[in-house]
Amino acid sequence: MSDLMQRTLVLLKPDAVQRRLMGQLIARFEAKGLNIVAMKMLKVTPEMAKKHYAEHVEKPFYPSLESFITSAPIVAMAIDGLDVIKVVRDMLGATSGLNAAAGTIRGDFSSSRQMNLVHASDGAEAAKRELKIYFDDSEFCRYEPVLTPFMR
Ligand code: TYD
Ligand code: MG
Repeated sequence: MSDLMQRTLVLLKPDAVQRRLMGQLIARFEAKGLNIVAMKMLKVTPEMAKKHYAEHVEKPFYPSLESFITSAPIVAMAIDGLDVIKVVRDMLGATSGLNAAAGTIRGDFSSSRQMNLVHASDGAEAAKRELKIYFDDSEFCRYEPVLTPFMR
């Protein structure tokens, strides 16, 4: 594990909002000791979806993925923490809820490959690129937590 302070993009997808799971999902990131430094609800447009999922646009599942991700509001968050990109990916579990380990978000709440509740950047370059789609630099709230039980 690296000691690197990082920022990642997390999306609570339309299924998370529709299923009223926002609070439970955000609670997991807070319980882990991560810092949510920006958060907003919005509807993803087809243009945003094509930018966000650029690596998948040509794949057979893309049209269905685009109609899902643009179908209803999402919540976008920027989350800071040590090694946070890997930490959050580990918290999500495997892409399909059917394969995701119990104890992970997808493993505990999803039985679907498409409706897997949460997106998180899969690397430093992806995080940088994806954060720009959802947030301006001025929207990140830098703050020092008053209590720092998770800092080392
Ligand atoms: P991917 O980047 O492979 O997964 P992850 O979200 O774990 O980074 O795929 C992006 C999303 O596309 C994924 O969350 C769900 C959807 N998807 C499908 O609907 N069908 C598929 O076969 C794959 C691979 C992904
Ligand atoms: Mg991905």
